[in-house]
Amino acid sequence: MLIINSLFLVNTSSQLVKGIHFDRIITIVLGNSNYEESMKDPYLVYLASQGILLSNYHAIWHPSQPNYIAMIRSSKSGVLTDFNQDVEGASLPDLLEDKGISWKAYMENYPGYGFSDSQSFDKLYVRMHNPFISMNQIRTNSSRYIYIVNADTLKKDIEDGTVPQYVFYSPNVINSGHETNANFASKYLNNTFIPLIEPLLINSRTLLVITFDESSAYFDSLTNYNHIYTVLLGPNVLKSLKHEDSDRYDHYSFVPTIEQNWNLSTLGSGDDTESTPFGDGLFLDVSS
Ligand SMILES: *[C@@H]1O[C@H](CO)[C@@H](O)[C@H](O)[C@H]1NC(C)=O
Ligand SMILES: *[C@@H]1O[C@H](CO)[C@@H](O)[C@H](O)[C@H]1NC(C)=O
Repeated sequence: MLIINSLFLVNTSSQLVKGIHFDRIITIVLGNSNYEESMKDPYLVYLASQGILLSNYHAIWHPSQPNYIAMIRSSKSGVLTDFNQDVEGASLPDLLEDKGISWKAYMENYPGYGFSDSQSFDKLYVRMHNPFISMNQIRTNSSRYIYIVNADTLKKDIEDGTVPQYVFYSPNVINSGHETNANFASKYLNNTFIPLIEPLLINSRTLLVITFDESSAYFDSLTNYNHIYTVLLGPNVLKSLKHEDSDRYDHYSFVPTIEQNWNLSTLGSGDDTESTPFGDGLFLDVSS
């Protein structure tokens, strides 16, 4: 288990809609690193030893953007490049809202207010790492795009006990490793992100997923396409599988995992028929 060294405790479990395996899921997406490259980083290896390494996990495309779309649509939805592209139809937030489950997308360096340009003025935020703003039903609705926020607000949400049940976190292009490398991203996790969210891990029914958007295309392998590092962490993640699950998962796995957990309806995008949720055996069932 991660060492909890925060001096303050927060009550974040008051109005949570109970899930089968978890009551909150936090996903952080780092950038552009092959599995082998990531597994050379000591801190990423350490994190894997604290949870479950999904050692046969694959991104679904190059370049970045389709991978993010897949995480909330279980489909590329016709998005094959990093250019701005608007997507019609429902996505994961629609299913969550239907069940009264709160969500927010925390984006580092995001200007807010439904900003939908391809990048911020400081060039640190990029739209291709923010799939939510590409959803027409979110971008065109001011009651919904307010849930896409600048990541600086997470600290206050933690202190106030108002962190939503679905947290999607995109670091900026420097911190994610996108314009740096996996070692840089790992230092960012170790020094900044993990200490920030540690208070949330006091709730044993929090699941933290650390993944990468895609492998580094230049060094990708045709026989092991887009193989990337992904770990599941949190107090309830079962430790009985030698900290490793070698079943094949990919970015399409997120939506069905979350649908099953909260008994959501489906998107009809292959999410319920073609995509593999993270294995049930990975989680302790402590729903009682
Ligand atoms: C905007 O979103 C709100 C909250 O989900 C919803 O009640 C409303 O119907 C939406 N408006 C439109 C025009 O879709
Ligand atoms: C899941 O949702 C369906 C449809 O809303 C409902 O009929 C069913 O009872 C729910 N199952 C559980 C276990 O809540």
